[in-house]
Amino acid sequence: MCHADVHAKSKHRLLGRSMWLWIAVWCAVWAPVTHAAELVVRLSHVVAPDTPKGLMAARFQQLVAQASGGRIRVEVYPDSQLYGDDDEMEALQLGAVEILAPSLSKFGVAGAPEFEVFDLPFLFDTLAQVRCVTQGRIGQQLLQGLNRQQMVGLGFLDNGFKQMSAQRPLLQAADFKGLRLRIQASRVLAAQMRALGAYPVVLPFGETRRALAEGVVDGAENPLSNFLTQGLAPVQRAVTLTDHGYLGYAVVANPRFWASLDDGDRTLLQRALNQALWEGNARAAVLNAQALATLKQTPGVRVHSLSASQRRGLRQAVQPVHADFARRVGTPLLRDVKNLCLGGVQG
Ligand code: LMR
Repeated sequence: MCHADVHAKSKHRLLGRSMWLWIAVWCAVWAPVTHAAELVVRLSHVVAPDTPKGLMAARFQQLVAQASGGRIRVEVYPDSQLYGDDDEMEALQLGAVEILAPSLSKFGVAGAPEFEVFDLPFLFDTLAQVRCVTQGRIGQQLLQGLNRQQMVGLGFLDNGFKQMSAQRPLLQAADFKGLRLRIQASRVLAAQMRALGAYPVVLPFGETRRALAEGVVDGAENPLSNFLTQGLAPVQRAVTLTDHGYLGYAVVANPRFWASLDDGDRTLLQRALNQALWEGNARAAVLNAQALATLKQTPGVRVHSLSASQRRGLRQAVQPVHADFARRVGTPLLRDVKNLCLGGVQG
């Protein structure tokens, strides 16, 4: 009954998001999702099914079904169908969904500013450097720290490096001047756009396409898999391959749900997730490379590359962001990232 209510949500948007959130919370409190024979795990996310995150979620669903013989059912809600950027964290903390995989940039506003270390522009040059952080001791500490925010951190997933898009190529800081650029709700990303001379505009992912189409914002930053699957090509004439920042995810669970599982089910879910994340990380770079190849063939949008000196110029323009935000993300954390994963590089 409660699940039927939640399913009906997308059909009855008139009721408003907050009303549905409270219905879902009521269900979570009065009708627990665990039953003797069956366990339902709701996983909500904001991107399309054919993205790194969407495919990882589908694989997790499949692995759990196989390992439990169908007894544990993962229900995946893509494309902000159930919750969007503005309410998914609250929904998780209240128990209205069991699992989320928000981008790392979204944990700062949820009370974990150390996650904004991943937003520092031009901090990482390669995915191997990012993996050193996410798959090692630093990543484990970051996940454990999420307990303070009433979340259980279960693992990391790559999307990839972000590229800039607008109606014109963005090759040097002067090209950004005066543009209104959509960002996720991260203070580091806001500072990055200001350092480039643009106006940052925080918008939920699910509203970005419409805002671009209506000219509410002029451009955005996205990994190409997101750019393509959100249908942004028809509303942006130029993509510039800046690779200026990383976008990845942390998979998190509601702590009461996680604690309510018996040891066998918890191990089954964590193992299936580890496998789905491992496969997802292997596939993410491939999906972004495929998206680039597709975009190059897409009429109406042009892909621009930066020369080495243009890249140096953009890097230099955003350097003040590193100094300004070292305290917010945590100086010891930044030092560890640089010493352990960037070969001691300073910024
Ligand atoms: C964004 O809001 O741009 C991304 O976090 C979307 C996503 O989850 O990949």
